[in-house]
Amino acid sequence: MSKKTPITVARGDGIGPEIMDATLDILTAAGAALDIDEIEIGKAVYERGIMNGIEDSAWASLHRTKVFLKAPITTPQGGGFKSLNVTVRKALGLFANVRPCVAYHPYVKTNFPEMDLVIIRENEEDLYAGIEHRQTQDVVQSLKLISRPGSERIVRYAFEYARANGRRKVTCMAKDNIMKMADGLFHNVFDEIGKEYPDIEQEFYIIDIGTARIAARPGAFDVIVTENLYGDIISDVAVEVTGSVGLGGSCNIGSDFGMFEAVHGSAPDIAGKGIANPSGLLLGAILMLNHIGQNPVATKVHNAWYKTIEDGIHTGDIYDSDFSREKVGTKDFAAAVIERLGQNPKKFGTVDYGEGTGKGLVLPPLKTRKTEKKELVGADVFLDWQGKPEDLATKLKPALVKGLELKLIANRGVKVWPDGQPGTFCSDHWCVRFVGQGVSHVLVLQQLASLEKAGVDFIKLENLYTFDGKSGFTVAQGE
Ligand code: NAI
Ligand code: MG
Repeated sequence: MSKKTPITVARGDGIGPEIMDATLDILTAAGAALDIDEIEIGKAVYERGIMNGIEDSAWASLHRTKVFLKAPITTPQGGGFKSLNVTVRKALGLFANVRPCVAYHPYVKTNFPEMDLVIIRENEEDLYAGIEHRQTQDVVQSLKLISRPGSERIVRYAFEYARANGRRKVTCMAKDNIMKMADGLFHNVFDEIGKEYPDIEQEFYIIDIGTARIAARPGAFDVIVTENLYGDIISDVAVEVTGSVGLGGSCNIGSDFGMFEAVHGSAPDIAGKGIANPSGLLLGAILMLNHIGQNPVATKVHNAWYKTIEDGIHTGDIYDSDFSREKVGTKDFAAAVIERLGQNPKKFGTVDYGEGTGKGLVLPPLKTRKTEKKELVGADVFLDWQGKPEDLATKLKPALVKGLELKLIANRGVKVWPDGQPGTFCSDHWCVRFVGQGVSHVLVLQQLASLEKAGVDFIKLENLYTFDGKSGFTVAQGE
């Protein structure tokens, strides 16, 4: 191996230091060329009163190396502390969460020995922006934001990942039968970018049946790409189905950064006892080696790890008298892996990550598109009001300004005026749609002023636009 790659390492809390030592011992013995810069994060930093668990000096290291191998930390409960994971993810723009979910049958019990899939979850957008507002006595709103560049980047990442890792298929999951615009955008981008990857099989599932299939037939999947919330849920379903929550490694990737870790936490109940399984962090470190282009080392470590598992050398968490030969602690497990460096597994398939580029996955720039003509054609004004739809219409009509007409009134997405169904339950949260020709912002403001004068409490405004003449808003159910 030629030049050493600078990386930032944090030993974390609980079992963190033990599993990090074991992992680094294995990487070093395998010939990984790493120039390690250690930073402190987690409990000790929180206890110094730093609310997000990471000091300024640590950021400097991360910005220099752009590669972060991180042991789990103990997140303090309550007291206004912020999650370090979320802070790092957002600050470094780590848009992709990559989580391989693999069955290790028969050493770890599972109904699906053939399972070997990777979930690629969008990490920054969707409902996780956490933009929420209480708008009336009875109704709160959580905004779901899906962007075209965000969708393109994650979908592209999934295809590039599949190619680089010899995977044959990418499955997209979303709910565009209901969220026609937000999830429709995600699905469309998948179809569009997919055309550039004819060598890779492609399919789409509505998220609910997709999730059910993961639980019942996980062997049918290879790489799955999905939005943030769906990805959060299906990751847990998939990892549970493998039977080995404790053996998961994962990474968070941005255009310029990568953070690599175990899926599990700091396991305070077994900390300091020397019995923790270092496999989750080691598998995270293997993802890191591939990211920095040390693929041959990743191959060597992964094969040695498989051989150790199939030789029955197990830590207590996966020890089973039927399949295990020897129960070992953290250090002896690492020694057993080191002893097997250069050997290949016999029962598990041999892993080969190829040569690697040394640049991680390099994504092409975002596609440029022609700017569409955006035209204001009306406004949805949301009201806090109680009563019957007809009474609201009667109240609004005299308050209409010239140039706008009252198109409809909806309650929680269902049209209730004109010609509503008598059985529709109405909350105190109403949407009134005004439309017109040549609508201007000034006209919308005049309409708001007129509503104010009529004593109507408006809580929110959504402008209605067309883009190149195509509608940029949904119709209400029943419209
Ligand atoms: P946990 O994953 O730390 O532990 C759950 C159970 O699994 C425990 O019984 C533990 O002994 C066992 N376990 C976990 N990793 C193991 C390993 N490598 N070898 C053997 N046994 C293992 O989850 P828990 O108890 O909910 O959380 C503990 C702390 O970790 C909390 O402060 C939590 O906030 C934090 N945490 C940190 C994460 C991170 O830094 N990425 C992720 C998840 C939790
Ligand atoms: Mg989760």
